[in-house]
Amino acid sequence: DVLTLVFIVVAYLLGSISTAIIVCKLMNLPDPRLDGSGNPGATNVLRIGGEKGKKAAAITLFGDMLKGLLPVVVAHLLELAPLAIVLVGFAAFIGHLYPLFFGFKGGKGVATMLGVMFGLSLPIGLAVAGTWLFVAKVLKISSLSALVATILAPVYIYYLAEPDQQQAWITVTAVMTLILFWRHRSNIQRLLRGEESLIKAAKDKAD
Ligand code: G3P
Repeated sequence: DVLTLVFIVVAYLLGSISTAIIVCKLMNLPDPRLDGSGNPGATNVLRIGGEKGKKAAAITLFGDMLKGLLPVVVAHLLELAPLAIVLVGFAAFIGHLYPLFFGFKGGKGVATMLGVMFGLSLPIGLAVAGTWLFVAKVLKISSLSALVATILAPVYIYYLAEPDQQQAWITVTAVMTLILFWRHRSNIQRLLRGEESLIKAAKDKAD
């Protein structure tokens, strides 16, 4: 219906606001699209941010998560149907990947997808974010932890969502995971070659 459509458009526009690009500009850091991996995301902001990297990356992660979280929470509050709720989140995710305001060249979607998962339900968000943090802590590779966490997301939803939510949420989340994997194809090639970079702030590199 019209309300759902309006929500989807607004969520897409919200997703289009790249936290990484804005934060780097405001904090006088290099453009994340032109430096490091070239990805406007928290991992790359940490990589290129020098001594401001941790703070800038934390703000980027928070901002990009919020873009996914907020519209889904509001859709929940307005009691949209389960399919509409997850499509609103999907729209924010697509906005982050293909932002209207930045020539449709956006990020890889990890933080925004995490925000959407928290919006679907707190347990689902905790399960996916917990997996992401755990793998990141153990293996210290941002891309790999995102790949592991997001491929498990539909499985977690299967166990944690209500019966009337399951089908729509699993299907749309699986599509998000597929797109996220596609966006990580260069990371996946580096992982297979054993050349993917470890999570490390730029200032630590000299150690
Ligand atoms: O959030 C994206 C992350 O999974 C990989 O980023 O900069 O290492 O390609 P990057």
